[in-house]
Amino acid sequence: MTLAATLIAAGLLPAQPRGNDMVMDASSPGARIQETMYGIFLEDINFAADGGLYAELVKNRSFEYANALQGWKTWGNVTLREDGPFERCPHYVRLAYAGHPSVITGVQNEGYFGMGVREGAEYRFTVWARKQGKGEAGLGILLADPSSMGDVQQFTDEYVEITSAKWQKYEVVFTCPKTVEKAVLRVILWSEDPGVSVDIEHVSLFPTDTFNGDENGLRKDVAQALADLHPGILRFPGGCIVEGVNLDNRYQWKNTVGPVENRPINLNRWSYSQFERMFPDYWQSGGLGFFEYFRLAEEIGAEPVPIISCGMACQFLNDPQWDVNVPLEDLQTYIDDALDLIEFANGSVKSKWGKVRAEMGHPEPFGMKYLGVGNEQWGKDFLARFEPMVKAIRAKHPEIKIIGTSGPYLGGEWFDELWPEMRRMEIDLVDEHYYSSETFFERNANRYDNYPRTGPKVFAGEYAAHGADGKKFNHFNAALTEASFMTGLERNADVVVMSCYAPTFAHVEGWQWRPDLIWFDNLRVMRSASYWVQQMYSSHRGTRVLPLTMDGKAVSGREGQNNLSASAVWDETTGDYIVKVANLGNYAQVVNLHLKGLPSPVTACERTVFHSDNPMEENTLDEPERIVPRTSDVDITPVAEPQNPWIMGMRTDAEGCPHYSERLGGRTFVIYRFKTK
Ligand code: AHR
Repeated sequence: MTLAATLIAAGLLPAQPRGNDMVMDASSPGARIQETMYGIFLEDINFAADGGLYAELVKNRSFEYANALQGWKTWGNVTLREDGPFERCPHYVRLAYAGHPSVITGVQNEGYFGMGVREGAEYRFTVWARKQGKGEAGLGILLADPSSMGDVQQFTDEYVEITSAKWQKYEVVFTCPKTVEKAVLRVILWSEDPGVSVDIEHVSLFPTDTFNGDENGLRKDVAQALADLHPGILRFPGGCIVEGVNLDNRYQWKNTVGPVENRPINLNRWSYSQFERMFPDYWQSGGLGFFEYFRLAEEIGAEPVPIISCGMACQFLNDPQWDVNVPLEDLQTYIDDALDLIEFANGSVKSKWGKVRAEMGHPEPFGMKYLGVGNEQWGKDFLARFEPMVKAIRAKHPEIKIIGTSGPYLGGEWFDELWPEMRRMEIDLVDEHYYSSETFFERNANRYDNYPRTGPKVFAGEYAAHGADGKKFNHFNAALTEASFMTGLERNADVVVMSCYAPTFAHVEGWQWRPDLIWFDNLRVMRSASYWVQQMYSSHRGTRVLPLTMDGKAVSGREGQNNLSASAVWDETTGDYIVKVANLGNYAQVVNLHLKGLPSPVTACERTVFHSDNPMEENTLDEPERIVPRTSDVDITPVAEPQNPWIMGMRTDAEGCPHYSERLGGRTFVIYRFKTK
């Protein structure tokens, strides 16, 4: 018995001597693949924003947390006060003489899991301060490594003289001499006059080298990971934090624009919503607010997709009896929030909110086209609020495409009730969420094959494959099943016009939810296996869907399709034909790609392969490149013996059609890019 026969008998190799013949038809381009197709979901969960993407290193910089000194330690005479210069952030601390010339007065901030600082990098310390008393006074600004066993913990020693009795912003920029993952910041009162005290407020430390060099900017390495996805959309600010635990706790975008010192903080519901992983010091500073989200979208070339509250607190956390929904007669506040947001993003600089945008440094409109109303809501209470909001938005801004919801689950009662309502209201896009098992993703590459072709489009707004047995890792197999499922998104690009993996970010010490696309600590970033799948799709998006069939049927891993799913697109701008194939079988199998109807011969081919021998393997911060796609050139020199079906490589089939064959490894995702120019 040959090896192949033995493997076939053992069920390890399918008995299919001719391989799997797939036919791509280049002569019938189908739906346009929208530029919005592959996007990013941003929510401040897992310390994604504060402590993550937002480059601020100081936690509780304005002493506004419920425990005003959370994140701070003090020496000497430090008192909390609340009549500061910023109306919506009134707290500050007074540093005063401690009663003895040798006793230090000062504060120390622990940062978010410490402060990551780098050798040779420049940092900008700023503080709002004023001096009481006549003598000279200043602040020592020290970075220290509290874990150091050296004689000296401090490794920077800067000084800011405080000159005025009026509140002023002071700044010192310095170069850091050393890389430390968990530094602390010390701010010490220096004065020889016991009658002198210094008040400090909004104590801030940023690297100057932020993403795109923006002030109040983003951590460069973390933001770059987003930019490298070339996302079509940026959805923000969530997720559940849009809704809030109660209405007061909802995300209020108006609190996140204007001078950063005066943005009120908001408790992050993820500080306690996952009981198993709670973080008592998780607040939203508002520093990464709506202006910064719009700016980021612009900088990375993504359409901004804001989501706003529909006047309902999180339904999962609240009993309907508790009256946590805004009374219908008060819905106008929420409608105004929506209309004002459109004005903020797109309005003239003479308009109230357009002026705010301009004063923040962006007189040009952001060109917002989409607006999501509500997140994962359902039921009659939702529809009673959603519909009037939609009507009001449409009446004033018919140009804005509205995103509705199908609830929190991929199907079921709420889903089945909501979709017809969305159709009735002619909502532009419906947000579907599915955090589901690898098996779901493996078996549902055909999810959208039979969706109605008219009516609202689908925004697959949050999805991720979660491992079996409750194991939620970013392991290779989860990513592979996502790759397989995504062939179905691509094939149905006339129905699905936006999609986002979720959540996007997680701090390794601060996560509440996993898996996540991108992990980081204070100094490093790791792109997960799922990240690479998203990146492979967005880098090979194409512009038109092409029919790709096996035995006349779409290739979606159905019976008789040998665990293969596949899709094809044409990129009109480059003239390339792109075929994506996922082999979810545990065995290698031959795939024959028949490239029917090409306008000209294939001149070159590139192949990007995504594989790991171990389905449970993950990238880690220590080994971030265990699983990455590998691109190589395919030899397209015509191979001999064109009649022999076992010959791999490029040849011409009996119909005269170019035909590429490959023995595709088990549990592998591959993208072929055939060039014809
Ligand atoms: O992505 C995490 C959460 O999952 C989102 O906040 C919510 O929309 C969904 O339930």
